[in-house]
Amino acid sequence: MYKTALITGASSGMGYEYAKYYAENHYNLILIARRKNILNNIKFDFENKYNIYVTVLPLDLSKNNFIEILNSSINNITIDYFIHCAGIGILKKFINYDIAIDESIIQVNILSIVKLLKYLLQKMEKQNYGRILVVSSTASFQPVPYMNTYSASKSFVTNFIISLIEENKNKNIFISLFCPGATNTEFLEKSNITPSKWRGNIPNAEKVVNYSIKKFNNNKKLILYGNYNKFLIFIQKFLPRFFIPKIISLTIKKGSS
Ligand SMILES: NC(=O)c1ccc[n+]([C@@H]2O[C@H](COP(=O)([O-])OP(=O)(O)OC[C@H]3O[C@@H](n4cnc5c(N)ncnc54)[C@H](OP(=O)(O)O)[C@@H]3O)[C@@H](O)[C@H]2O)c1
Repeated sequence: MYKTALITGASSGMGYEYAKYYAENHYNLILIARRKNILNNIKFDFENKYNIYVTVLPLDLSKNNFIEILNSSINNITIDYFIHCAGIGILKKFINYDIAIDESIIQVNILSIVKLLKYLLQKMEKQNYGRILVVSSTASFQPVPYMNTYSASKSFVTNFIISLIEENKNKNIFISLFCPGATNTEFLEKSNITPSKWRGNIPNAEKVVNYSIKKFNNNKKLILYGNYNKFLIFIQKFLPRFFIPKIISLTIKKGSS
């Protein structure tokens, strides 16, 4: 019998690439995002190509009742893999955009993963099996001016997941945290980030996701992509607390109004 992977943020970017990988490897899929038409097209494509079942759940993770809807759809289904990719951000001076955007970031990036893991970890504990990969960000390792709420939300995710990794280490449930750096997806445009505002070449989602899957399959608990990102995260441990945001601020200030 095929295993089942539940993937959030599956309508684009990294979430789509994870869905493609698990489809190619003959997992049944449960795909979550808001854009129903895109999810239905993916379902049609993957079911025809890979002979699997794809369940589409067009849920808005910022809504209070999404877990009830999820539960009513998957209550009797064993979830073997959970890949959490849904996330939103904004690059803009804090006082120049509406509070509703901060609220959405907090709901989608923070509250949804807490609710999803409360629900899915209980389910996996009963099954005595589960594998979980949560996508955070390199932005979670330091304050990022002009992306204040986003970087703080990802710091929550990183700390939350690392503590859950420890809490679940003696169980048959494996949890991994993936912190990618800038990646060429819709996220950049939707967050008001243009690639020219960042240094260097930005990898595409397929490359970044395939790398993370290789590490996830080898039971790596913290996955970082790229030597540049790894170096920045390492070096900042030795720098004064206010130095890094100062440097970041100089890099991304232009175009962030
Ligand atoms: N791209 C980067 O540079 C980068 C860097 C570091 C970390 N990340 C993180 O990587 C993850 C994946 O992002 P990506 O780059 O693949 O961006 P993306 O292409 O914009 O994908 C984001 C996904 O989240 C879903 N989503 C957004 N709001 C949602 C909501 N309210 N309810 C349900 N689903 C929602 C979107 O689907 P719908 O719009 O259809 O709902 C989409 O499928 C995010 O957590 C992001 O923070 C990205």
